[in-house]
Formats: sequence, structure tokens, C-alpha cells
Amino acid sequence: MFDSGLGGLTVVRELTAAMPGEDLVYLGDTARVPYGIKSLQTVRRFALEDASFLAGFEPKMIVVACNTASAAAIDLLEQRCEMPVADVIRPGAAAALAATGGAIGVLATEATIASGAYQRAILAADPDRQVLARSCPLLVPIVEEGRAQDDPIVLHVLTDYLRDLQRARPGALILGCTHYPLLSEAIGKLMGPHVPLVSSAQAAAVEVRKRLAALDLVNPLPTGGTLRCFTTDNAERFARLGERFGGRRLESVEYVGTDELEQSLRTLTR
Ligand code: DGL
Repeated sequence: MFDSGLGGLTVVRELTAAMPGEDLVYLGDTARVPYGIKSLQTVRRFALEDASFLAGFEPKMIVVACNTASAAAIDLLEQRCEMPVADVIRPGAAAALAATGGAIGVLATEATIASGAYQRAILAADPDRQVLARSCPLLVPIVEEGRAQDDPIVLHVLTDYLRDLQRARPGALILGCTHYPLLSEAIGKLMGPHVPLVSSAQAAAVEVRKRLAALDLVNPLPTGGTLRCFTTDNAERFARLGERFGGRRLESVEYVGTDELEQSLRTLTR
């Protein structure tokens, strides 16, 4: 699995809950985070490098835990990787379509919203759906800073971002960024109980399990899966902050330089 940084550990948490026996290798590209404010072209290059590093472990599947990387690069990764590649956008969109027959709201980074990936995934399944997309660039730094959900700054920023969506009252609201599940309580309170929140992380875990089961590749062990983490920057900081995202202690965090990721791109075949 890879992500631009720590946020993808929310997907690790969901995957581990769905498949506790799986051994996971996680790459967080903390040296180059955030992806969400970068051009799609740049994110595609980073995503390809991240995936090629992971391909070296010969995994049975690569999971793109980052919404922005999924939005920018899933087609490219599916073309270039030998193993199956899973994203978080298509499962998130499908879960929202299943949750409501009405309009769907999407909260995500600037790059994800600008890519139109969620909008396309929803409209491909149902061209008549109304999609209300909102980029929320301040939420990633706010979550990384560890602000509590009832912190006045958090509520102030969320109130501003959610104003139009509160008025429009969509039938479901997609949390289309790795960091947003950590704000789900505050977002849920502001949107009210009639708007179900759809976590792309949770939806992706369900989909990964389904795809692995179809390939007869699920590790059936009820417990004991390992987690090996790599970070392209400070390993100590990754371990310390990562606990909040992953909901568990990170025993093993190793450093890998972005130059090594660039080199491994050469080994990605097909
Ligand atoms: N992981 C990113 C996402 O889910 C959020 C952080 C970033 O902007 O890199 O879109």
C-alpha cells in the first residue's frame, strides 16, 4: 500500500479490520507530501515511483491508499503493474451510490476534485446523479497537527467548507481523503444525522477483500498479519504521528530515499 504520507494508515486500519491475517507493506511518501495541492502530472510520476518500489516486494496486490494518487494515476498504474492494483475512489463512489438514490457530496483535496475522478465514477454508474464536490485544502494540515475535533479552529474551517453542502443536503457525503475519517465526528455533527458519511478508506477495504477473495488470495488467518512501514522522510516522526492514523503502535518504520524510489521505477515492467 502507498500513500503520500501518514493518512493512508487510516486505510491500513480498515484493511487490517477486514483481513487481520494479511501482511502489509506500507510506503508513506512523507518527503513529498502533500500530493493534494500538486499537479496531476507530478502526482502521476510520484505514484508510479511509489508503486514500483512496492512492486519489488512482489505483493499479491498494490493498494493505492491515497485518494489524490488514485484520482491521478489509477489508469496508469493498472497499465504498468503486473499485479492487481486497487484504488480508493471507485469503491468510495460505489458505496455512496449504494447509500443513497439522491445527490452525492464529495469532500477531497484540490487535486482530487480538479481531476473529476469522483464525479466521473459516480456519473458513469448513474448519469442523472447530482454530484456536489468541495475541495478542503486546510483539512490535511489541521489533522496532521493533531487538532481535536471540537477545536474552535477545526469547527470554524469545517463550517466554512460545509456551508453549501449543509444547504444542499446531499443523500450521502463521501470523505474522499485519507485524513477526513479523523474528522468524521465533527463533519457528521455539522451535516446532521440525515446525511450518511461514506469513508473511502472503509469502502476500499471491503473492495480489496472482495477482489482478493475472487482470486482466492485472502489470507484466512484470524490474526497475526504484520505491518512493515517505509517513509521517505523522518522515521521517528512517522512512527509517532502514525499511531493516531493507524490506531496502533508502529513497530517497524524504515527510511527509504526518494532517489531509491526513482531508481525502482526502472524495474517496473510491462
Ligand atoms: N493522502 C491524500 C489524499 O487522500 C491527502 C494528503 C495529501 O494531500 O497528500 O488525497
